[in-house]
Amino acid sequence: MEVEICFQLAKPDRFGALTMIVCLCKGVSSSTIDAEVERGAKTVGGVAKACQAGTGCGMCVGQIRDLIRLRTGDASDDAAPDGMA
Ligand code: FES
Repeated sequence: MEVEICFQLAKPDRFGALTMIVCLCKGVSSSTIDAEVERGAKTVGGVAKACQAGTGCGMCVGQIRDLIRLRTGDASDDAAPDGMA
């Protein structure tokens, strides 16, 4: 599986690990998305519901999907936020 993820910003999280802002509209980082996937959000829509990532302009939806794929090996497209896929 080939996965391409583009991040706009990078900063250390509270543990000093590098985390990147994936969703600029909602200010959601890769570590937050990882945490929501670990808590059970296995779809783009599930992540959106959990932390609002992807609910603005929609430009980050593909990156959110790629992060879910990295963590789970799969990401359903059926639960993307309205108007996004
Ligand atoms: S960058 Fe995520 S919704 Fe706009």
